[in-house]
Amino acid sequence: MKVGILGSGDVAKSLGGGFVKHGHQVMLGTRDVAKLKDFVGQHKGAQTGSFAEAAKFGELVVLAVKGTVALDALKAAGAANLAGKPVIDATNPIADAPPSNGVLKFFTNLDQSLMERLQAALPDAHFVKAFNSVGNAAMVNPQFPGGKPTMFICGNDDKAKATVGGICDQFGWETADMGKAEAARAIEPLCMLWCIPGFIQNDWFHAFKLLRRQ
Ligand SMILES: NC(=O)c1ccc[n+]([C@@H]2O[C@H](COP(=O)([O-])OP(=O)(O)OC[C@H]3O[C@@H](n4cnc5c(N)ncnc54)[C@H](OP(=O)(O)O)[C@@H]3O)[C@@H](O)[C@H]2O)c1
Repeated sequence: MKVGILGSGDVAKSLGGGFVKHGHQVMLGTRDVAKLKDFVGQHKGAQTGSFAEAAKFGELVVLAVKGTVALDALKAAGAANLAGKPVIDATNPIADAPPSNGVLKFFTNLDQSLMERLQAALPDAHFVKAFNSVGNAAMVNPQFPGGKPTMFICGNDDKAKATVGGICDQFGWETADMGKAEAARAIEPLCMLWCIPGFIQNDWFHAFKLLRRQ
């Protein structure tokens, strides 16, 4: 698959590396391609471009920018370049404020998630929340003694969720589909929970698992 990744940070690079590893074609989008010189050197075939070029390139697009600027990055990517495409939304609405006793502050509330805002602003893109509640070091084929961790996803378009579910499968996750975009109100705060052991105990390698009846 051709994958356009909006971002140049740790998430963009970890997921970008994962897509390359699994044989996908990748373009990372950024305002400054110089930031990705090392990444391109280390990942044969990976390309870089602007946000708009990466969005246009991707049959699947990944949004991996700072939550406060997610809408700006999507505007720069261009609504037309995202229309009809699955867009993995890995962002979190983390406010520009320090955590309280290890608990991050969000700029959203429990009645509206960041992904719902993004979906409302770009109604023709098919947003799927995923990869937001695990650290980048464990995003691609993580090995845990307890087996495969669970990737909680949600979004309004079933076909887009099936595409993202296929990627989660490739990246070594079991997928738990929590339903429509509103479920991001519950999935985004998992990031807060995930980060607490990091801030309190400096433990940044763990993941969630949903235990089911069968
Ligand atoms: N770090 C993790 O392990 C982790 C795990 C799960 C989810 N997340 C979420 O994933 C997202 C990316 O996290 P990250 O740690 O990789 O990187 P980050 O530092 O949160 O974001 C870096 C990206 O934000 C973009 N950006 C910053 N200001 C911008 C602006 N004014 N306009 C447009 N773009 C701007 C940068 O674009 P340029 O390339 O142009 O500089 C860069 O690509 C965040 O929402 C984070 O909450 C992070």
